[in-house]
Amino acid sequence: MEMKATLTLLLSLFLASFTVQCHANKQTEALTRLHKTKLYKNWGINTGHFEATRHENGPEVASQEGMREKDRIEGLPGQPNVSFTQYGGYVTVNESAGRAFYYYFAEAQHSKQSLPLLLWLNGGPGCSSLAYGAMQELGPFRVNSDGKTLYKNKFAWNHAANVLFVESPAGVGFSYSNTTSDYVHNGDKQTAADNYVFLLNWFERFPEYKSREFYISGESYAGHYVPQLAHTILSHNKDADKSIINLKGIIIGNAVINDETDERGMYDYFGSHALISDETLSQIQQHCDFSPNATTQSDKCNQASNKAYIDVSKLDIYNIYAPLCFNSSLTIKPKKVTSMLIDPCSDYYVYAYLNRPDVQMALHANVTKLDHDWEPCSDIIQNWQDSPSTVIPLLKEFMANGLRVWIFRIELWDWIILVPTTIRNWLALEHGLPKRLIAKLMVWTTSEALHLNILFQKQIVRY
Ligand SMILES: *[C@@H]1O[C@H](CO)[C@@H](O)[C@H](O)[C@H]1NC(C)=O
Ligand SMILES: *[C@@H]1O[C@H](CO)[C@@H](O)[C@H](O)[C@H]1NC(C)=O
Ligand SMILES: *[C@@H]1O[C@H](CO)[C@@H](O)[C@H](O)[C@H]1NC(C)=O
Ligand SMILES: *[C@@H]1O[C@H](CO)[C@@H](O)[C@H](O)[C@H]1NC(C)=O
Ligand SMILES: *[C@@H]1O[C@H](CO)[C@@H](O)[C@H](O)[C@H]1NC(C)=O
Ligand SMILES: *[C@@H]1O[C@H](CO)[C@@H](O)[C@H](O)[C@H]1NC(C)=O
Repeated sequence: MEMKATLTLLLSLFLASFTVQCHANKQTEALTRLHKTKLYKNWGINTGHFEATRHENGPEVASQEGMREKDRIEGLPGQPNVSFTQYGGYVTVNESAGRAFYYYFAEAQHSKQSLPLLLWLNGGPGCSSLAYGAMQELGPFRVNSDGKTLYKNKFAWNHAANVLFVESPAGVGFSYSNTTSDYVHNGDKQTAADNYVFLLNWFERFPEYKSREFYISGESYAGHYVPQLAHTILSHNKDADKSIINLKGIIIGNAVINDETDERGMYDYFGSHALISDETLSQIQQHCDFSPNATTQSDKCNQASNKAYIDVSKLDIYNIYAPLCFNSSLTIKPKKVTSMLIDPCSDYYVYAYLNRPDVQMALHANVTKLDHDWEPCSDIIQNWQDSPSTVIPLLKEFMANGLRVWIFRIELWDWIILVPTTIRNWLALEHGLPKRLIAKLMVWTTSEALHLNILFQKQIVRY
């Protein structure tokens, strides 16, 4: 990707984060719940180092003949004319359990034969790549305020790649399992194993992409999913002594990668922006133990952190300066839109759109008539089983194996020095890495971004 194109595309992601707040609350809730489980209660969640599930008898790869053409989307309801091809459908990831993942694939707007293939994952855990990535951030379309028509996203990433969105794990969005107990046995390990089987089958369905340069990207809790899937691919490539999947690199943005620094940085940020009181911050700093081996926290820590959560609960902590959504009603006529300002109520428009039967039919989604509605963040996934306290060892492994690793954050001008989260992560990551593998912290911006006081920070890269 050219630098300028990349920046423009990143800008779209930033602008999209303006919308994040209605559901931001949902995404924040999902992540907060997990963090609390891990740090404050230790309810049996496994935080040990991630190990890839090895498919010793060979993973389940089924014949995909004829399925690709069936998945072709003729056109989405209310969609403007476009010249690229879209596909959507299910890939079975576990035959005996009846578990299948939903994907939406937007081929590149030009040069689709030569541009790379990019997989995008959202986090949560439990949040949908269709809800956020595809429909509010980097996908080709956005949903109008009428909840039934679409408009083009000027900053769509399929200007630069063939972009694949997958809803994972089972229980997220349209992805499901006929063995509903799977919904309470999900975790990082299961997600990575299923995503891997998904990919092997998807490449059978789209064989012309098998040898294409392949990148995995995502944001937030996908800071776990992306490296874990990449590690699973690398492990299988190594075992087979050949490139089963032609993985070239990973991209993670505003990612959860290291609990200790992520958590500390978050509270520092709340404190430095007066979202919580100095006293609450100092109580947290004194009494909470964010180290990976902490199994319990003192009452003082619990009280202070609960106070902090209450204080920020009404805010969009992803963008404290963005407008909030106060009226989630759909409008009869679409509200006027601009590429630069995104409606903070978009989450509701996407919810309305993706729950329409005609839209689901066009997408080839919900073919088994699921007993729950499509939600941006799943209500049915519970009991997350495992979540390593850090994925930094995986990132180091990739760099040592010649993958390109790009970690970025998109933030507002005034945060840049103040937000310690990424800086702390940066130091944790740099520790013990050979200097030649690290590109210095770089700051990028564009004139459009400057206008909005945004800058992009490219953190590490290995070419
Ligand atoms: C979209 O394409 C259809 C069929 O090619 C054509 O009839 C219609 O006029 C086009 N609409 C616009 C807005 O270009
Ligand atoms: C399929 O999923 C079930 C759990 O629902 C599990 O017991 C079984 O081992 C899985 N099969 C394979 C081949 O992974
Ligand atoms: C789940 O069950 C439905 C209804 O029996 C069936 O049509 C569908 O193919 C099953 N899904 C998978 C992935 O096997
Ligand atoms: C965590 O482990 C470190 C190093 O082993 C130790 O110094 C620290 O006291 C431990 N913390 C807790 C809460 O057990
Ligand atoms: C919310 O928006 C709808 C649609 O624009 C409008 O009809 C309704 O009056 C609004 N409600 C409030 C409380 O502003
Ligand atoms: C699937 O379709 C059923 C029946 O139309 C509907 O009640 C349900 O909300 C839909 N679920 C999803 C996840 O789209």
